[in-house]
Amino acid sequence: MQLIKALLAQSIGAATVFLLLQVLAIPILWAALLQGAASALASRLLRQPSWWIPMHLLFMPAALVMLHLQLPAWSYLLAASILLLVFWGTIKGDVPLFLSSPAVSHALSEILDREQASAFIDLGAGIGSVTLPLALRYPQVHVEAWEHAPIPWLVARWRSRHLPNCRVIRQSFWDCDLSVYDVVYAFLSPFPMPQLGEKVRSEMRPASLLVSSSFPIPGWEPESVIPLEDRMHTTLYCYRIPS
Ligand SMILES: C[S@@+](CC[C@H](N)C(=O)[O-])C[C@H]1O[C@@H](n2cnc3c(N)ncnc32)[C@H](O)[C@@H]1O
Repeated sequence: MQLIKALLAQSIGAATVFLLLQVLAIPILWAALLQGAASALASRLLRQPSWWIPMHLLFMPAALVMLHLQLPAWSYLLAASILLLVFWGTIKGDVPLFLSSPAVSHALSEILDREQASAFIDLGAGIGSVTLPLALRYPQVHVEAWEHAPIPWLVARWRSRHLPNCRVIRQSFWDCDLSVYDVVYAFLSPFPMPQLGEKVRSEMRPASLLVSSSFPIPGWEPESVIPLEDRMHTTLYCYRIPS
């Protein structure tokens, strides 16, 4: 849906500038900048999330610059393939790759200690920024990293190759069974939180703990909220599953 809206916004921007060019002679760079501005405005009107704005603003000017550089055609295919393998489901609206800070791993390691956890899962584990330090620190804890994007999965798998207590699984976390973990960690986006809440409610064991970085579950009361002093001012929302 977001991809269709993005294409529509770009087309509206291009049509606006095309019409403008019929009556005004403007330099090509200005035309590209205007197309970006019109696309960004259209994107807002189509209610796309705000992080699309810089992409719309920069798309056509960047295309102009790249044309000017006269790069070989295969380099575009290579760049597109790498981006696809890293960001995978983002095109469908899935959460893209952002990394948790070391402060998050540190806070989670205190939580694992306190909870006396024996099984931990990171839903959408990226390159293992959280699972790797936890698996290293707690060899007795079974740590699982579920990640569906091929390149982050490969990196996480490679990084944890010497850690027998760490399993890296290339599958959607919507397919995993949350009933076997003591602590579940997620760093996603506001969009999937209601659906995640449903999954957690129906699968997680009583007394187990969900820790969500940055995004609360709408309508749920956290047992505790942990503000961290990292660069992103991350907040961890901890939800205890009721008996
Ligand atoms: C914001 S990043 C968090 C990465 C890691 N958990 C961390 O804290 O550093 C979200 C990750 O979730 C992955 N992801 C999104 N939807 C997913 C799904 N349905 N199944 C598995 N992974 C998913 C993305 O590919 C991305 O790597």
